[in-house]
Amino acid sequence: MYAAEAPPPRPATTVPGLARLKREGQPIVALTAYDASFAAVLEAAGVDLVLVGDSLGMVVQGHASTLPVTVDDIVYHCRAVARGLRSALLVADMPFGADATPLHALEASLRMLKEGAAAMVKIEGAGPKLETLRFLVEREIPVCAHLGLTPQSVHRLGGYKVQGREAAAAEQLKRDALAVEAAGASALVLECVPSALAEAITRSLAIPTIGIGAGSACDGQVLVLHDLLGIGGGQRPRFVKDFLAGGGSVEGAVRAYAEAVRSRRFPGPEHAYA
Ligand code: KIV
Repeated sequence: MYAAEAPPPRPATTVPGLARLKREGQPIVALTAYDASFAAVLEAAGVDLVLVGDSLGMVVQGHASTLPVTVDDIVYHCRAVARGLRSALLVADMPFGADATPLHALEASLRMLKEGAAAMVKIEGAGPKLETLRFLVEREIPVCAHLGLTPQSVHRLGGYKVQGREAAAAEQLKRDALAVEAAGASALVLECVPSALAEAITRSLAIPTIGIGAGSACDGQVLVLHDLLGIGGGQRPRFVKDFLAGGGSVEGAVRAYAEAVRSRRFPGPEHAYA
């Protein structure tokens, strides 16, 4: 393979830079990636934040859930993705169980930052995870929280379902969002929640929200790369759009996604939940 032409330099996305994008009203463009070649495509398209998600357990490894993913897996894929990035912020997902205690989470996070070259780790949940979140932030590990549909809770939730539809659950989500911010999170992924709830949470926080199935009022959007490319069988979730269908090429699809997020044309009402 010949190396792709180096993309024009652009300012690197930093952790504090995410909050600045929110303050300036510039939507954050985020996507998952798992290898260097796709990371380079995302980099060239100007994606701000690249997540090595534990979704790799499903879309790369073929498991039925994200639960089997290990810290070794995340570190391996982070190292590959990091080689394709120059300016985008690299975020590593904390695998299921690796944050069972603050010390376990610290050990895993140090590997993700030192070996995997990630700049931030993403942790699902609030409640007992708040202590861990605070513990990591106090030790110079930036954290992105993740609330709403947390796929690592699939068995407790009884499936991949929209969260926060009932009044009590919506209030709890609002409290959890304020709590992760108070614990030191630098960003918050909101997955599969009603748009109005995501909007209320987004307005209540200084840190940016990055939505997936959470409507257009979030400060940014993230998708699983394979979903954006229309890869994968089964029923496509409502929030997914196949950008390859209109993009003509992988590069075109990623650029179309970035442009649609920045102009707030994606997600549309047809991709959101009430
Ligand atoms: O694992 C993942 O890819 C994620 C995104 C869907 C946000 O958590």
